[in-house]
Amino acid sequence: MNTQRYLLSVTLAATLGGLLFGYDTAVISGAIKSLKEYFELDAAGEGWAVSSALLGCVAGALPAGWISRVFGRKMGLALSALLFLVSALGSALAGSLNGFVVYRIIGGLGVGLASMIAPMYIAEVAPAERRGRLVSLYQLAIVTGIALVFFVNYFIALQGDDQWNRDWGWRWMLGSETLPAGLFLAFSFWIPESPRWLVAQGRHDKALEVLTRLNGPETARQVLAQIEQTLDSRLPKFRDLLAPAAWLALLVGMGLSALQQVTGINAIMYYAPKIFENFGAGRDAALLQNTLVGLVNLAFTFVAIKTIDQYGRKALLLVGGAGMVLGLGVVGLGLFLQNQGIWLLPFVLLYIASFAMSWGPVVWVLLSEIFDNHVRSLALSIAVFVQWAFNFLVSQTFPMLVDSPALNERFHGAFPFWLYGFMGLVALWFVWRRVPETKNKTLEEMQQIWKR
Ligand code: BGC
Repeated sequence: MNTQRYLLSVTLAATLGGLLFGYDTAVISGAIKSLKEYFELDAAGEGWAVSSALLGCVAGALPAGWISRVFGRKMGLALSALLFLVSALGSALAGSLNGFVVYRIIGGLGVGLASMIAPMYIAEVAPAERRGRLVSLYQLAIVTGIALVFFVNYFIALQGDDQWNRDWGWRWMLGSETLPAGLFLAFSFWIPESPRWLVAQGRHDKALEVLTRLNGPETARQVLAQIEQTLDSRLPKFRDLLAPAAWLALLVGMGLSALQQVTGINAIMYYAPKIFENFGAGRDAALLQNTLVGLVNLAFTFVAIKTIDQYGRKALLLVGGAGMVLGLGVVGLGLFLQNQGIWLLPFVLLYIASFAMSWGPVVWVLLSEIFDNHVRSLALSIAVFVQWAFNFLVSQTFPMLVDSPALNERFHGAFPFWLYGFMGLVALWFVWRRVPETKNKTLEEMQQIWKR
């Protein structure tokens, strides 16, 4: 295999971690209605069945930095693949809500690990000049996983009536993840170890061998020399994060992570069929509309990939953020005026499209570039942890907000949408005032921004 093709294959194999991130977090959206009936859940139980997996994600993100440093990136990815596999089988066969939750949490640990290690691995095997685009590929893999599982769920739901779906459909949906998980596990043994990690372990010969396969012999020697030169083999400490520049970057990273979530993306991603049923659609129609969400999410990610280096990170965040606020505002208005119906679908899609071309990919790109080389793995795992924590908060509370009689009496279901819309306004302010433009800047120039 020539070097180009090898690099692409290795990158694609690693993006399977992103694909499973999307697949695992969104599989629940198609299963939750039947699951709710099967286990006779109330609103809190429903929120728990959906968001328990996210607790695993929260818990998996924090040690990801440590695991990947001590055991290597490859082992970290293989471990996450194994967790996905166990979770898919276990949750599909679960006999009780508690059993189900335990296996979903195991899968969540896999997502937490993969969500931090996969983009880092991609950045570490990629040549510098292509790193930005390759990180966006990771978001593309996430949304591909989401779109794929929406289709799979829809297809499975069509195989039987409501009764069959309640008893069996959701099990097939969760079990379907066995396939991509098995694939990811196999590929995680095939991919090479990250050359940067190998150098940090003192295995310079092995690193050169990997770099040669990725870049050809000449470039490989140059890159190796660079890695050796810039490598700070001290383990990053929490204290390093308290230096003013690092601290500022961390605050912005955590802010971006939190705002990406409190603007409600995963309330829509995980509960879309429920939302569409509240608009008046039947179960199959709701799942079909859900596949539209997945497709629009996928299509508009390409807009970001094409424009991010041209118009810059901030422009995308501002334009996309405004579209999200508009979409949420109108959906809320329709519900508030008790005038819901299919006409709200385009505004849900406007919201999704706006997110997909902005806050989805751009947050991952910024997270991967705003931190100093030395503290990156530590700072990244903290920022990713914050993202999962807020994801958990939103997914746990969304059904409660939707089903709350007191709120519904006043707002007729508009409240959560307006709440996320308001957070969207906060997000716009945050980007405008607090986020530096990083387009076309080297990582070293970035350090200067923070110092200023
Ligand atoms: C976010 C996920 C979200 C996905 C939706 C990602 O960037 O991190 O929480 O589910 O985008 O496309």
